[in-house]
Amino acid sequence: HLPEPCTVVIFGATGDLAQRKIYPTLAHLMLNHPTPEGFCIVAFARRPFDDEKWRAQVLTSIEKYMPEDDKLDDAEKKTFASRLFYCQSNFDDREGYQKLSDLLDKLDSEQNTSGNRLFYLATPPDTDSEIIYHLGGAGLARPSRDNGNGDTSWTRIIIEKPFGHDLASAQKLNRDLGRVFRENQIFRIDHYMGKETVQNIIAFRFANGIFEPLWNQKYIDHVQIVVAESLGVESRAEFYEHAGAIRDIVQNHVMQLLSLVAMEPPAAFDAEAIRDEKLKLIRAIPIFTTEQVKENVVRGQYIAGTADGKPVVGYKEEQGVSPTSTTETYVALKLSIENWRWADVPFYVRTGKHLPKRSTEVTIQFKRVPHQLYKVGETRGLEPNRLTIRIQPDEGITLKIGAKVPGAAQQLATVDMGFSYNSAFGVQSPEAYERLIADCMLGDSTLFIRRDEIEASWSIIDSITKVWADLPPETVRPYAAGSWGPQEADTLIEEDGRHWDNP
Ligand code: BG6
Repeated sequence: HLPEPCTVVIFGATGDLAQRKIYPTLAHLMLNHPTPEGFCIVAFARRPFDDEKWRAQVLTSIEKYMPEDDKLDDAEKKTFASRLFYCQSNFDDREGYQKLSDLLDKLDSEQNTSGNRLFYLATPPDTDSEIIYHLGGAGLARPSRDNGNGDTSWTRIIIEKPFGHDLASAQKLNRDLGRVFRENQIFRIDHYMGKETVQNIIAFRFANGIFEPLWNQKYIDHVQIVVAESLGVESRAEFYEHAGAIRDIVQNHVMQLLSLVAMEPPAAFDAEAIRDEKLKLIRAIPIFTTEQVKENVVRGQYIAGTADGKPVVGYKEEQGVSPTSTTETYVALKLSIENWRWADVPFYVRTGKHLPKRSTEVTIQFKRVPHQLYKVGETRGLEPNRLTIRIQPDEGITLKIGAKVPGAAQQLATVDMGFSYNSAFGVQSPEAYERLIADCMLGDSTLFIRRDEIEASWSIIDSITKVWADLPPETVRPYAAGSWGPQEADTLIEEDGRHWDNP
């Protein structure tokens, strides 16, 4: 599974994501590739830097963000830095793209890139269309070219999330992309799909014979998905104020998890078969009516409290946040999937910032036995069978089962059967970004989001945000940082006679 040589052109090269994730990932990829001389990285950015200045900046971020056991030695830093080039331009400057085209031609001939090019847009969504348009105008979007060595080279584009702000803007971005690139050149990234534990949902369901027969409304009582973060909004207020938890996490990461957990078995392990099933699943989620939003969706915003044991300010007091902000930092919702498999099985979703811990889990709760042999007192402490897929941290899977407590009495208790990645495999999972960027370099779009999938997901989110826009600000419920969210979220699930399974 080795990436091909290419030049990666980064837009948004001085941004937070590039520094934290993209450069460390590219450094790791490049140094593990058998032909490292075939890689180049070009920043297309506004600041008046030259190659040397940019190289120094990238080395600083690599030093800061590369994991301790992956740090580069001096020789590796030198090799990596020598592959970095800077093209100074504004995103709206047509001549800048011509300059970029000349630089890429030069690198192709001097650096063994095989003529392959990967444009990486780690930019705010409102600048994407302009960049795409100019790439097309400069002749940089052609799907393939003869690279002069008897081979054809490829051109691909990665688009970071958020992909648009709502359905209309996502559709427009898709149209703009479609005018310039072909769908098989376009890689819409959601880094959750690069996580080993997320891919393992497919393996768990379809490589084992024993779970799939139970995976339906006959045996499953309900499903919970939680994406909890202990971090607050940090330094991203400008972005987050316009996004909120529903756009930042539910539209993408939660929908991806949900579609893998609930989709029908694909006929093959390939990009189209898997994405067809994910799409069918998302389309089976009915859009929310006004009444359903009021009853089944709770939004919250953190107020002062604690995070990781330290006092923290409320969201409205964060730097860059409006003191009257109604942006939600928490969402809990109940949704249904209208198909044969999932009729009458509610899916409960929660996500929030400044919750007690960082944890992403999917929990499948099974129905109780149809006939209880044991008396009420004997089953005290017996919980329903619950299968929990721990996406992060402490990656693994636990199945809760009932067992007899040793002794003369008929007393039952709940015990765990478990699998932990760490003890089973003993290796660190690869970084999600590394897997995805390498897949893109190989032209494998299985783990990327297709045009129709992203639009189907936005339709559901739009049906919620449109109703929120007309609701009074007090419907954004406060919760103390460090708590599991507002009381209303507990009521949402408890009204159904169920409770949240806190990680
Ligand atoms: C990003 C969101 O997509 O995912 C962030 O923009 C969030 O707000 C992050 O913190 C969570 O990712 P992970 O991999 O840490 O769960």
